[in-house]
Amino acid sequence: MERTFVMVKPDGVKRGLIGEVIKRIEQKGLKIVAMKMMEVSKELAEKHYAEHKEKPFFQSLISYITSGPVVAMVVEGKEAVKVMRNLVGKTNPIEASPGTIRGDFAMDIGRNIVHASDSLESAEREISLFFNEEEILSYERAD
Ligand code: CMP
Repeated sequence: MERTFVMVKPDGVKRGLIGEVIKRIEQKGLKIVAMKMMEVSKELAEKHYAEHKEKPFFQSLISYITSGPVVAMVVEGKEAVKVMRNLVGKTNPIEASPGTIRGDFAMDIGRNIVHASDSLESAEREISLFFNEEEILSYERAD
């Protein structure tokens, strides 16, 4: 069983897409084991996106992700990292397939609604940045 980190970004929250993202995660059969609405501080944003520090879009990425509330989640399930990336679609919404969240709801790479960890290593790092172990709950899904 894997865990991955998912975040509905400020544009997803402002456009009223929290429920749509949650619905797709649940109907796929993944399990949400932690969730909170929060504002991301500049410090947390810079840690979360550390791998993009040298990219030309880094400053706009930081100001965007700190521009309004996000919904952070820990999602659990078989191959959760891969399954979640498939649900979300390609980073650039122009290339994301219809049926994926970005394919269905976004047009702009900088406003792509949702983040999902790209590897197990990233998932562990990102989960530990946003959640304490006590905030991650355990229960059985009734499928
Ligand atoms: P995310 O999956 O959250 O991970 C890194 C983010 O950087 C990515 O989604 C995009 O929103 C953003 N990003 C990647 N490439 C670009 C780009 N060329 N211009 C602006 N933002 C980008």
